[in-house]
Amino acid sequence: MRKRLALERPVPMDVVRECLDLALQAPTGFNEQNWRWLVVTDPGKRAVIGEAFRRAERPFVEMMEANIPDGDEETRKVASSSWYLAEHLHEVPVHVIPCQVGRIDSTAKLFGSLGYDTDLTNMATSAVYAILWPAAWSFMLALRSRGLGASLTMIHLGAEDEIAKLLEIPGG
Ligand SMILES: Cc1cc2nc3c(=O)[nH]c(=O)nc-3n(C[C@H](O)[C@H](O)[C@H](O)COP(=O)(O)O)c2cc1C
Repeated sequence: MRKRLALERPVPMDVVRECLDLALQAPTGFNEQNWRWLVVTDPGKRAVIGEAFRRAERPFVEMMEANIPDGDEETRKVASSSWYLAEHLHEVPVHVIPCQVGRIDSTAKLFGSLGYDTDLTNMATSAVYAILWPAAWSFMLALRSRGLGASLTMIHLGAEDEIAKLLEIPGG
């Protein structure tokens, strides 16, 4: 998918909006739509995101490459696709960045106050991110059914503060 993204093809914003409308029907815990969907098209901002993403992706890909067992061509291809995306992210015409209101530790605290005897960080991580993924995946499927490819990433969180500042995403 990453190597097949047609980066030169324009992405109609009405299609992005329609797919978001569909995606936002996804189920959420507590019926809380505690998300914000940022759609970034500005080339200058995409360039900065691309640069930060590359920096974050590099050690990950290097680690992946250093650990590929001999003859494992499939994993080699995955690593190669990861680096390909890093080199081209700024050319991707639309970056859709789903955000969550709140941090893991505040949800962990909430669960802690209910007296659960468990790994609260793990429990909270499941709760917080599980709210986002069904919608994110629905969004990607809706795009796909309308002829638009998409690729999921998370490694930009390795440069979270820098990207948040650029996009004026408030703390928390
Ligand atoms: C939660 C999640 C996070 C991901 N984060 C990244 C990422 O940061 N960078 C990356 O290159 N691929 C990432 N991937 C993998 C890509 O989404 C990849 O395109 C997808 O697995 C399809 O594989 P292909 O591009 O090799 O066909 C992630 C996948 C998932 C499910």
